[in-house]
Formats: sequence, structure tokens, C-alpha cells
Amino acid sequence: MLLVLLPVWLALGILQLPLGSTQECLSLQQALGAVRQMQKLLVVQEAAHLRGTRGLRQQLSVLQSHLQRQATKRNETCPQPAVPLNGRMLGQNVRVGHDIHFVCNAGFRLVGSETRTCRHNRTWSGTQPFCRSIDDCSSNPCANGGTCVDGSQSYTCLCSPGWSGPSCQSPIYAYWVTLSNASFSRQPRCAEGRPGSRRCSCDTGFQMRAGGMCHDVDECQLFQSNPQTRICLYDCLNLPGSYRCLCPPGYLLHVDHNTCEDVDECAGKQHNCTQGDLCINTFGGYRCVRPKCPPSRHNTSYVKTSAFQCERNPCPMESRACRLAANSISFHYLPLQANGTVPRVLFKMSTTRFVGDSLRFAIMGGRGQGVFAVRRSDRQTGELVLTSPVVGPATLEVELEMSEFSRKVLLGKHMFKVTAFVSPYEF
Ligand SMILES: *[C@@H]1O[C@H](CO)[C@@H](O)[C@H](O)[C@H]1NC(C)=O
Ligand SMILES: *[C@@H]1O[C@H](CO)[C@@H](O)[C@H](O)[C@H]1NC(C)=O
Ligand SMILES: *[C@@H]1O[C@H](CO)[C@@H](O)[C@H](O)[C@H]1NC(C)=O
Ligand SMILES: *[C@@H]1O[C@H](CO)[C@@H](O)[C@H](O)[C@H]1NC(C)=O
Ligand SMILES: *[C@@H]1O[C@H](CO)[C@@H](O)[C@H](O)[C@H]1NC(C)=O
Ligand SMILES: *[C@@H]1O[C@H](CO)[C@@H](O)[C@H](O)[C@H]1NC(C)=O
Repeated sequence: MLLVLLPVWLALGILQLPLGSTQECLSLQQALGAVRQMQKLLVVQEAAHLRGTRGLRQQLSVLQSHLQRQATKRNETCPQPAVPLNGRMLGQNVRVGHDIHFVCNAGFRLVGSETRTCRHNRTWSGTQPFCRSIDDCSSNPCANGGTCVDGSQSYTCLCSPGWSGPSCQSPIYAYWVTLSNASFSRQPRCAEGRPGSRRCSCDTGFQMRAGGMCHDVDECQLFQSNPQTRICLYDCLNLPGSYRCLCPPGYLLHVDHNTCEDVDECAGKQHNCTQGDLCINTFGGYRCVRPKCPPSRHNTSYVKTSAFQCERNPCPMESRACRLAANSISFHYLPLQANGTVPRVLFKMSTTRFVGDSLRFAIMGGRGQGVFAVRRSDRQTGELVLTSPVVGPATLEVELEMSEFSRKVLLGKHMFKVTAFVSPYEF
């Protein structure tokens, strides 16, 4: 360190002298000379310093590899740790001093140590972690008065009478239907007034009928059958004193108690798409898809470049068929509701690198041609439009082509393979 500082002191000494002098021209020259000399010195010092550090680093890495070799020779490893179910282990080095990490799949959270270190006595620090389902009792998952029982990996719901399903969301029709009208009837609440006079009343949801009994009001019969007074989006179940709206499988009753909300099966673990399949959430369900590039044909072949995209391999010379084929193909999956309002823009397409002078859009084929149209929305953008309402459930396919031209010469084509999954319901 002293060696590095010394020339700086020296240089400062030289600089101080001429600056205070009256012979300005000469002293300026001297000062400049001194600065140059100082710069040279610094460069030399810097190089020497760098050589020093490099040497030190080399020695350190030699020492490290030597120590590691010794550790391996002495077999200083910890036992192979267990990989948690529904999770992964990151890192493979199980030698003393090394760390391994654990992560859980989506929908699960880690309980235990996220990181474990192989200690000198060849044991792992921390505790063996496991992955626990996020959907545990803390989210109050059991509906209709069900009781949640927490397990180590997941929860179970114990449902109250008349309800079933993993979260007690489905009514057991037989239970409610076999409850006779009589059991929906109740004694009124009565209060003795002046001697000989009684005032009786019924709870809300009940109505006094002849005979002095409180009869349940069947709200479903009263309101649901008329489109103007409908109380439930889908179905209605009469209960003593009240009613409940029901939703078809794949939906949950919205907090407003009337409408149905689609369940995103793909976000949770409620789908059974195999590994390699992609899960697409639809209204009322989900689909497992596996976009495939077209097979090689007429000297044209494609390679998958991402989950939803294929790119054409370079064309052999002389192959016109290949040059006319699409340069890229992308796959698009659209969930739709039945009987939606039309016309409706489903999809917009444009090119990221527009180098030509015009773009053309066309529907090339597919099983859903009758209800789709393609139109231009601006110079560089086309859109796929749904032109008539679709009765569900249905799967519609359409292939769109976007061609780019420059002075009427085809520069390239992109194909969009669109699949629309139409719900059986209007929601
Ligand atoms: C090191 O020890 C583990 C068990 O502790 C054993 O399975 C392995 O074969 C040993 N390796 C060598 C090279 O001795
Ligand atoms: C290994 O060492 C840690 C501390 O470094 C200690 O807490 C642990 O009990 C030791 N385990 C065994 C089996 O000796
Ligand atoms: C309940 O009574 C009504 C008439 O008051 C009848 O139409 C209906 O079928 C009865 N329901 C059951 C489940 O017995
Ligand atoms: C998973 O697939 C099986 C048949 O392969 C089916 O019986 C089951 O209902 C499916 N589970 C879900 C959650 O869709
Ligand atoms: C395929 O390429 C070869 C030359 O590489 C050419 O002779 C042949 O005509 C091409 N076939 C098609 C269908 O384009
Ligand atoms: C859609 O409209 C058609 C014709 O109006 C009708 O028959 C059908 O029930 C409606 N609902 C669904 C879900 O398709």
C-alpha cells in the first residue's frame, strides 16, 4: 500500500513548487511534465497491483480445489435428502458446506426449511420440508355450514345434512325433496295480549295460512319461472324460510348469492392434464391442449419455438412449396360463453416487424367458418370477429392467415390457429 501512495506524495510535492512561482510559462511546462510523469507511474503501479491480485486469486483457487478434493476423498457428504411431494429440490451438491434449496409447485406452500446446509458432522441443518396445499381450512372452504378438518396435506369438509361435494357446495336433492311440505311448516310465534286475545306471526320466509300454521314461501316457484323476476342465474332450490341459488358443475355461487362464477381449474390443482399438456380454463370447465407443429411435407418442416408457437425451418433451394408456406404458426385458445352478443371482436393480429407495404388477412379454413369473419381494423392490424351467436357447448376452429407484401411480392406469412371453447351456458 505504501508503494502505491508514495508517488502521489511525490507528485504533489513537485506540483506545489511551480504553482507558487512567478515564472509562469516555464512552471506550466514543468507542471505538465510532472503530471505526465505521475500518470506513467500510476500505470506502472496499477499493472503491478493487478498482477499481485491475480496471483493471489490463483493461489486461492488452487487451495480451494485442493481442499475440495480432500473433502471428496474423505467422503464428507450428507445423506441424500428427500424431495418433497409436490415440490422440487434445487442444487445437487451434498458435500459439507454446501446448500440445497426446496420449492413447492403452484398451489402448495413450503412447511419446514427452505434452505438446508450440509454441516461438518455430515447432518443437514434445519428440518425436512414438505409441501402443503394452500387450500387449507384458513380459507373457510366448506360452504353451507360444513366443518373443515385440517390434514397434513389438504383439508376435508364434513358437510351438514342435505349438502355434499368437496366443499359442501352441492345440495343432495333427495334430502330436500323428501322433506315434506309439512316439515317446512312451523307453529307461529304468538303473544298473549289482553285476556282472550292472541297475536300470532310467522318468521320471514313463512306465511300464515288457513289453520293458523306458518307455511314456507316457495320463492323459487314464485320468482324463478318468470324471466322478469328471476332470482337465480341458473337454478333455484327452495329451503324452509329461504332459498338458495345453484350453479352447474364448474361454477361456484358468486358472493352476491345469485350468479355463478367460473372456477379456474387450471390455476388450482383441479385439472388432470398430463405433464406436457397445457391447461386452458374455459367457462364451466377446462381443456388439456398440446399444440403440435404440422408434420414435414413438400420440403417444409416446422420446429416448436415456444409453448404456443412453431417456426418454419429454412427452405431448401428450389422449393417453391416451402417458400409459400407460413413462416410461423401460433396457437390461440379462446373461452366463450354461449349466445353472447354479436358482433364481437375475439382476437386482434398484427406484425411486430412490419417491413412490407401491405398486410392481407384471410380465413383459410377450420370447422367454425360460418360464425367468424376477419376484417381490418387499421393498416397494420386485422381482427377476428364473431358474427353470430353460438349455441353451446361447442368447439370451433378457425385458421387465419396474415400475409405481408412489398410491391405485391410475398415477404412472409403467419398462420393463427384459433380454437374457441363455447360454454354450455350463457355464463
Ligand atoms: C460416501 O458415503 C456414502 C454414505 O454415507 C456412500 O453411499 C458412498 O458410497 C461413499 N462414497 C465413497 C466414495 O466412499
Ligand atoms: C451436528 O452439529 C450441529 C451443530 O453444528 C448440532 O446441532 C447437531 O446436533 C449435530 N448432530 C449430530 C448427529 O451430532
Ligand atoms: C308441497 O305442497 C304443494 C301444494 O301446497 C304441492 O304442489 C307440492 O307438490 C308439495 N311438495 C312436496 C315435496 O310434497
Ligand atoms: C380425471 O380423469 C379421469 C379419467 O381419466 C376422470 O374420471 C376424472 O373425473 C378426471 N378428474 C377431473 C378432476 O377432471
Ligand atoms: C423438394 O426439394 C427438392 C430439391 O431440394 C426439389 O427437387 C423438389 O421438387 C421439392 N419438392 C417440392 C414438393 O417442392
Ligand atoms: C341460446 O339461444 C338459443 C336460440 O335462441 C336457445 O335455444 C338456447 O337455449 C340458448 N342458450 C344456450 C345456452 O345455448
